[in-house]
Amino acid sequence: MSRAKIQPQSMSQPTDIQTRLASGSTTSALQSKDSCSLAKDVKVGRPFKTQLRVALCSCVLGVIVVMLGAYVRLSDAGLGCPDWPGCYGQLTVPSVEQEILEANASYPQRPLEVDKAWKEMIHRYLAGFLGLFIVSLSLLAWKFRQLPGQPRLLPALLLLVVAFQGMLGMWTVTLLVKPLIVTIHLLGGLATVTLLWLLSLRLISVSMVFRSLIPHFVEKPVPTQKIKGLFAAILLGVFILVLQIFLGGWTSTNYAAIGCTEFPTCNNGVWWPEMDFSEGFVLWRGLGINYEYGVLDYPARTAIHVTHRIGALVTAVYLTLLGLRLLRSDLPVAVRRVTLLLLGLLMLQLGLGITNVLAKLPLSVAVAHNGGALLLLLTLTTLMWQLWPYVSGKTVFQQAKARSNPVGSNSGE
Ligand code: HEM
Repeated sequence: MSRAKIQPQSMSQPTDIQTRLASGSTTSALQSKDSCSLAKDVKVGRPFKTQLRVALCSCVLGVIVVMLGAYVRLSDAGLGCPDWPGCYGQLTVPSVEQEILEANASYPQRPLEVDKAWKEMIHRYLAGFLGLFIVSLSLLAWKFRQLPGQPRLLPALLLLVVAFQGMLGMWTVTLLVKPLIVTIHLLGGLATVTLLWLLSLRLISVSMVFRSLIPHFVEKPVPTQKIKGLFAAILLGVFILVLQIFLGGWTSTNYAAIGCTEFPTCNNGVWWPEMDFSEGFVLWRGLGINYEYGVLDYPARTAIHVTHRIGALVTAVYLTLLGLRLLRSDLPVAVRRVTLLLLGLLMLQLGLGITNVLAKLPLSVAVAHNGGALLLLLTLTTLMWQLWPYVSGKTVFQQAKARSNPVGSNSGE
C-alpha cells in the first residue's frame, strides 16, 4: 500500500467513499480489497490517522499528567506555589536571591520551597500542553466534521472537561487543597484520560474500517439479550469503580491513610475500631480552612480508611464475578484478553493498596496505586467499546453511515 503523501479532498465535495457509503456498496468494496478502492479508502482515512496520532499522544500525556498530579499531591507539594496560574507571581519558580526574598515577603505564611514549587509548576506546564492537544483535537474534529464516522461529541466533551479541570486546578490552590475539590480534580483527570482513550479507540476503528482491517466490524454483529446484559453489567462495574476511586481520593485528601496501620485488621488487632463516620464524610466545611495534612480527628480518618477498604472488597467481588461471566461467554478472544487484563490489574491494585498500609505509604507505591485505578478504568472502558457493536447491532461503519449521509441518497441496506 502506497505511503505517498495524499492531500485530503475538499470537505464540500462528497468523497468516493461517501458516495459508496450512500449507495451501500462500501462493505463489499472493502471486503473485496481491490487495490484501487483501498487506495481511495486510505485517502479518506488519512484525516482520521492524523487525529488518531494526536489522540494517542494526548492519551499518553494525560496518563503522565494524572500520575504526576498524584505525585505532587502525595509528596505534599500541592501548595508548592500558593498562587495560580503563576508561582509567587512569576511564570517560573523564583530562582535568584532577590526574587526569593520578594516571594517570601509576598507570602510570609508560606515561604518558598524550591523543590515543591518546581513539582507543582511542571505539573501545571504539562497540564497546559495537554489542554493545547485537546484544543487541537477539537479543531481537527471541526475541520473534518463532514466526514462520515468523524467523532464530534467526544472532542467537544473533552474540551469542556479539560476547561473544568483547569478551574479545579486553580481552586485546588486557592481553596487550600479542600478535599472535595482535590478529589473531583482527581476524578476529572481520570475522566479526561478515559475520554481520550475512547476517542482513540473510536478513531482506530474508523480508520481501520476504512482499510478493512477489522473484519468483525465489517460483518454485522447480532445483538442478543445476553450481550446487552453483559454491557449493562460492565456499566455498573464502571459506576462501582468510580465510587471506589472517589473513596480513595477522599482517603488521600483527608490524610486518612494513617487511619489504619495494619491489614487485615485496622489497629492493635481490632477489626472495627472507634470510628466517626458523620465527621469523616462532611463534604463541605466552608472556606478559609487550610486542609494540608488534614483537619480531622483520628476516629474520622479511621472511618474514611475503613470505608475505602469495604469499597475495595465490594469492587473486587463485583469485578471478579463480572470477569468470570465475560470469560464464560462466547465473545471474541480479544474480549477475553482484555477481561484477563482486568482481573490481573485488579489483583495488582489490591496488592498495592495493602502495601500502602503495611509499608507505611511509600510514595512510589501510592503513585502506582493511583495509576492502577486509572488502568482499571481504561480496561473497563475498552470492554464497553468492544461490546458496543453487539449492543447497537451496528458496525462502526454502519453507525458512521447512519449519522452522516452527505449525499443524502437511499441507504441501500
Ligand atoms: C479496586 C480497589 C481499589 C481502588 C480502585 C483504589 C483506588 C484508590 C485511589 C484512586 C486512591 C487515591 C490515590 C491518590 O490520591 O492519588 C486510593 C488511595 C488509597 N488506597 Fe486504595 N483503592 C483500592 C483498594 C485499596 C485497598 C485494598 C487498600 C488497603 C487495604 C487501599 C488503600 C489505600 C490507601 C491507604 C490510600 C491513601 C493513599 C494516600 O494517602 O496516599 N486501597 N485508592
